[in-house]
Amino acid sequence: MFDRVRNVSGSRTPVRPGDPTGWSGVRGKRVLVTGGTRGLGEQIVRLLAAEGARVATCARGAGDLAALAASLDSPLFTRALDVTEPERLEEFVAAMANRFGGLDGVVACAGGSRGGRFEETDAEDWAATWEVNVGHAARLVRAAVPHLRAAGGGSVVVISSISGWKPGPPVQYGVAKSAQIQLAASLARELGPDGIRVNAVSPGSMLIPGRRWDRMRREDSEAYAGFVATELPSGAPVAPEEVARVVAFLLSDWSSGISGAHLPVDRAQNAPSPDGY
Ligand SMILES: NC(=O)c1ccc[n+]([C@@H]2O[C@H](COP(=O)([O-])OP(=O)(O)OC[C@H]3O[C@@H](n4cnc5c(N)ncnc54)[C@H](OP(=O)(O)O)[C@@H]3O)[C@@H](O)[C@H]2O)c1
Repeated sequence: MFDRVRNVSGSRTPVRPGDPTGWSGVRGKRVLVTGGTRGLGEQIVRLLAAEGARVATCARGAGDLAALAASLDSPLFTRALDVTEPERLEEFVAAMANRFGGLDGVVACAGGSRGGRFEETDAEDWAATWEVNVGHAARLVRAAVPHLRAAGGGSVVVISSISGWKPGPPVQYGVAKSAQIQLAASLARELGPDGIRVNAVSPGSMLIPGRRWDRMRREDSEAYAGFVATELPSGAPVAPEEVARVVAFLLSDWSSGISGAHLPVDRAQNAPSPDGY
């Protein structure tokens, strides 16, 4: 009598009580990460590469891609492109699968927000914010599905945000991040029969060099200290490295039981911004 679990490569592995777990992390997995040159995406790329995955990433800045590739011990497949250009993204997915002989996972990490507060934000800001978050994630998965299916299954991780499930400005960003959570939950059901798992990860505020919270910490330390005291119960924002570990777990076979989930990784952060609730 033993249970059988399906791993993300589609094979069925007998599991007996007391058996070694066979934990291999992400070793050998072929994974494409969008937006891998800075912030969370960079940490995901570095962790996956260090753990023996075969990794591809894209960003608009060719110089940053070259510098990242040069800093790694293993080869990194890169393409300078804007993820909001559908044909370029689709071509990159196909090229990556061709180069690596298949695909086991994708991470929709590129994202961001355009415009300001509600009354300062126009229709173009709304559309641009939607495209870089939801549009790109949907097209990435659409392009990856045939390759994941051919591999017998796979894992998709969509990087949403604490702003996707807790209210706070800018609203166009929160609405797009919220849609990403729904995207993952819905696709998990639709793609489940093919052994493709889809999950959303929502980081809390992260200190990314040069980005919003890092600038606030350097330029208005009093306001930053107030934000930490009010909204961050652990006394510090979650680190991108901590979020990257959760993403790696979701790409690994050990998370075979998780699909359609929304995982906050935010150290129990309260509101997503100093505006509170
Ligand atoms: N930072 C936070 O506190 C925080 C909190 C919760 C969730 N998130 C989410 O986590 C993800 C990563 O955020 P981050 O702050 O780490 O990002 P970041 O520092 O702004 O880095 C974004 C990465 O994506 C690339 N990128 C941005 N727009 C792109 C585009 N249109 N096409 C191709 N590549 C693009 C950037 O390179 P190029 O500029 O060269 O293109 C860079 O590699 C995003 O989805 C964000 O919404 C962030």
